[in-house]
Amino acid sequence: MSNKLKIVVLASGRGSNLQSVIDACARNQIKAQIEAVISDKEGAYALQRAEEAGIKNFLIKKHKEESRLDYDKRLIEKIDTLNIELIVLAGFMRLLSADFIKKYDRKLINIHPSLLPAFTGLNAQKQAFDYGVKVAGCTVHFVDEGCDTGPIILQDTIKVTEDDSEESLAARILEKEHQLLPKAIDLIAQKKVFLNGRKVTLKSS
Ligand code: GRF
Repeated sequence: MSNKLKIVVLASGRGSNLQSVIDACARNQIKAQIEAVISDKEGAYALQRAEEAGIKNFLIKKHKEESRLDYDKRLIEKIDTLNIELIVLAGFMRLLSADFIKKYDRKLINIHPSLLPAFTGLNAQKQAFDYGVKVAGCTVHFVDEGCDTGPIILQDTIKVTEDDSEESLAARILEKEHQLLPKAIDLIAQKKVFLNGRKVTLKSS
C-alpha cells in the first residue's frame, strides 16, 4: 500500500498551482498523490490538466438557485467517496460553508497570493501593487471560517521593484506559489506540521 498522502485539489480556473503539484508528485518530490481534481467551472483548464495527467476529475457545477449549503453537500458527497486525507484549494473561487470547513478541520488548505493577513480576498496582487508595498508574496494556510484568515503554514516573499507592473508582480508571486504549495503539502505528508491554536509549528527534520 502507498504511504503517500492522498489529496484532492479543488480549482476553478487555469490550474497552474494544480500543475505544480502534479509535477512535484510525478517527480516524486513530495510524499503525496492527487486522487482527484474537482472544479466548479465548466471548461476550467485545471480539469484538462488533470485529464492529461491521468487524474480522475469531476465537474461539480452549482445549480441555479442552489444554496451554498446544498452545493457543499454535493461536494462533500463526492469527496467522501474518494478516501482523501487532505483537500487543497488552488484557485477555488467559491466560499465554502461553515459546515464544510468544520467537517474538514485541519484537512483543508488554501494558497493565497499575498502575505497574509494583508490583502485578503480577490485581486490580492493588485491590492498589494496599488498599496505600494515593497515586499509582496504568498501564503499557504489552513482554512477557517474567515476569508483567508486561517493559521499560516508557509509564506514566501519577493521584493517589489520600481519597474514592476501589476502583471509582473503577479507573475513573480505565482512562481513563488508554485514552489510553496508543493512544499506545504509535503510537510503535511511528512507529518511535520503541528497546529496549536492559530499557530503552526514546523518540525525541521
Ligand atoms: C492563485 O494566484 C492562487 O493563489 C489564488 O488563485 C490563483 C489560482 O491560479 N488562490 P491557478 O489557477 O493556480 O493558476
